[in-house]
Amino acid sequence: MSAPVIAIDGPSASGKGTIASRVAKRLGFHYLESGALYRVVALLSLREDTLDEKRLAALAEEMEVSFDDGDILLADESISDKVRSELVGSRASEVAKVPALRQALLKRQRSFRRPPGLVADGRDMGTVVFPDAQLKVFLTASAEIRAGRRYKQLIEKGIDANLRALSRNLRERDERDAKRAVAPLVPAPDSQVLDSSALSIDEVAERIVGWWQERKGGRT
Ligand code: DC
Repeated sequence: MSAPVIAIDGPSASGKGTIASRVAKRLGFHYLESGALYRVVALLSLREDTLDEKRLAALAEEMEVSFDDGDILLADESISDKVRSELVGSRASEVAKVPALRQALLKRQRSFRRPPGLVADGRDMGTVVFPDAQLKVFLTASAEIRAGRRYKQLIEKGIDANLRALSRNLRERDERDAKRAVAPLVPAPDSQVLDSSALSIDEVAERIVGWWQERKGGRT
């Protein structure tokens, strides 16, 4: 049987990444931040100044990306800071509409599924990439809370940010991600929807670990 998967999907800045990596640590599972793969393709698309669909798919297929304890490497170059910029995030949501690129990333994402298990975060983990995931969570938070969290993150990193522009940018990305034809951002029908607006990171992570333990307990 394949290794178990916990899929955590949700809109931009819903806290998926922080929560998913925390849950993975708690359970000793591997972690896939699928958005980072889209962001790396976006960075390459900006560097080459191309939005050609075939080229984007080829880049997704061939790029030498690796993850090293939170650091993202492209061959030997550390690109973590670059891929986390708002510019690259917006471009990622644009290139993510391209079906051939999504197809090219499928196998790569599925290769992260290894024992003892995987926590994967993104937009279509529970609907497309791991439809047989044992636990699917759709993590949301109000648009204001998400913009505020993203603002705080950027300021803490010493990056200049504007709350209103961030809010607008988030709304545009949400709309693009939810409306695209292929693998749009929608909760899987069998997902647990969790609104984190009024919860701390620890509370959200604990709730997901609790759900996981309940499922495991139910099966054995
Ligand atoms: O999670 P993130 O904000 O780093 O993702 C950046 C963009 O990549 C997001 O706006 C849409 C796209 N994406 C996607 O289409 N499917 C995923 N599984 C993850 C990200």
